[in-house]
Amino acid sequence: MSVHKDVKKVTTKVLQNMKNKGEKISMLTGYDFSMARIIDTAGIDVILVGDSASNVMAGHETTLPITLDQMIYHASSVVRAVNRALVVVDMPFGSYQGNSKEALSNAIRIMKESGGHSVKLEGGREIIESINRILSAGIPVMGHLGLTPQSIYKFGTYVVRAKEDDEAEQLISDAKLLEEAGCFAIVLEKIPAELAARVAKSVNIPIIGIGAGNGVDGQVLVVHDMLGINNEFNPRFLRKYHNLYQEMLGSFHRYIEDVKTGDFPNEEEQY
Ligand code: KIV
Repeated sequence: MSVHKDVKKVTTKVLQNMKNKGEKISMLTGYDFSMARIIDTAGIDVILVGDSASNVMAGHETTLPITLDQMIYHASSVVRAVNRALVVVDMPFGSYQGNSKEALSNAIRIMKESGGHSVKLEGGREIIESINRILSAGIPVMGHLGLTPQSIYKFGTYVVRAKEDDEAEQLISDAKLLEEAGCFAIVLEKIPAELAARVAKSVNIPIIGIGAGNGVDGQVLVVHDMLGINNEFNPRFLRKYHNLYQEMLGSFHRYIEDVKTGDFPNEEEQY
C-alpha cells in the first residue's frame, strides 16, 4: 500500500534476526481486508492466511474442502490491507501432495495472483520433493509439523501429537530436514511443550508454536479464536483476549430492538 511507504517491512530475514536475538515473533491468522488492516496496524510480525478459513469463514468441519481459488481470494484481500507484516499463505489440501510439479505451479499461482510473500505446507519427509521444487523457484516456504489438520482423517482426532518417543524423534528429524531444505520457519501445532522447546533449540530457523508451549521462538493463534468470536472452541492452549461473541450478540440484539421500535434512525441519522 502506498500510504505507509516508509514502514520497515517484515521479511524472512527479519524473522531470522529476531530468532538470533531471542526476540519473540507474533503471528495471527487473517482472511479478509478489514481484519488484516487492524492486525497489521497493531504491529503483528506475520499474518497467516490459514486454510482454517475453511472452518471460520466458510463453516466447514475440516480444512480439507477449501480450494486454491478460495485461498487466493482470501490472501489477495489480506495483501491489500498489509503495510508491514509478512504474509504467509497456506497451500490447501490437494494442491501440493500429489506431485511436485503441480505443487510448484500452484505455489506460483498463489504468489502471482494473491501477492502473498510466502507459502506454508503441512508435513515433513513425505512432501519434501514439493518443498524443494517450490524453494528452487525462489518462493519462501514455512513448514508445519505436529498436528497437521489436513491429515485429520489419518489421525482420526485433534488430540496432542508426538507424545510417544518414536513420533517425537521423527518430528525432530523432519524439522531438521525442513531446515536443511531451506524453509524459513516452521509452525509446530499441539505438541508437548518440552518437545517443541527441544526442536527450537535443534534448528536455527524460527519455530512458531500453537499449543506448543513457551519454549519456542513465536506464537500463532487463529484470530477468531483469540477474539472469542467462536464461543464453542475452548482448547487449553487458547488465550481469549475478548468475548466478541457476547459483544456482537448484544449489538445485534440492540440494533434489532431499535429497528423494531422505530428508534433507529433518529432525526440526526437521516437526510
Ligand atoms: O490454518 C491455520 O490457521 C493454521 C494455524 C493453526 C497455524 O495453520
